[in-house]
Amino acid sequence: MRIDIVTLFPNMFSGPFDESIIRRARDRKFAEIVIHNLRDYGLGRHRVVDDYPHGGGSGMVLMPEPLFSAVEAIKGESPIPVILLTPQGRLFTQQVAEQLAAYSRFILVCGHYEGVDERVREYLATDEISIGDYVLTGGEPAAMVVCDAVIRLIPGVLGSPESVRDDSHSGGLLEYPQYTRPQIFRGWEVPPVLLSGNHAEIARWRREQAVLRTLARRPDLLEKGDW
Ligand code: ADE
Repeated sequence: MRIDIVTLFPNMFSGPFDESIIRRARDRKFAEIVIHNLRDYGLGRHRVVDDYPHGGGSGMVLMPEPLFSAVEAIKGESPIPVILLTPQGRLFTQQVAEQLAAYSRFILVCGHYEGVDERVREYLATDEISIGDYVLTGGEPAAMVVCDAVIRLIPGVLGSPESVRDDSHSGGLLEYPQYTRPQIFRGWEVPPVLLSGNHAEIARWRREQAVLRTLARRPDLLEKGDW
């Protein structure tokens, strides 16, 4: 999979993509992440990318021309999905991550400042994604979240396929509680069923715990009926 990211702040991405599982996925060529500096497509000697909003109002708006130039240079004639990160987008969920994981390539466009010229939404973006009902200073942290959630779904990136299957949200439920050594920590014990060696019993207990936990914390997920 290849993910191209268009951003005004390329340096924000060094660090998050250079550690842990995402780093390993890149090293092993499961995922290629290419960062493009929007400033390179800015207008004139000062590489301008934003301007005042027509009609007045506060803040600056990203102009269409640099964004169209950047995306068109990246995709050429290929019909690659162009996803704008914006608080106005459809909500990013595990299901959306699974949809994106099926693509071999897509482009993430990070919005910034007060907004993005509406023609970018209408004529350049093929999708708009929000990572939650709150406003970030820009789309960069959202692009990192999307990349992380999608790349870990690529077969081979995580150690075992079960870790994806048992994830919170993947089966419409939150994940069951996990325990490791020691068996007793400060007097708090691991539930005996997990030490029983009875795999059917353990599976039943985990399923039950997942349902109870979802009921207690996220009853809205149970109501959706995806479990
Ligand atoms: N840009 C600013 N806020 C955002 C959000 N919640 N999701 C995606 N992109 C954003």
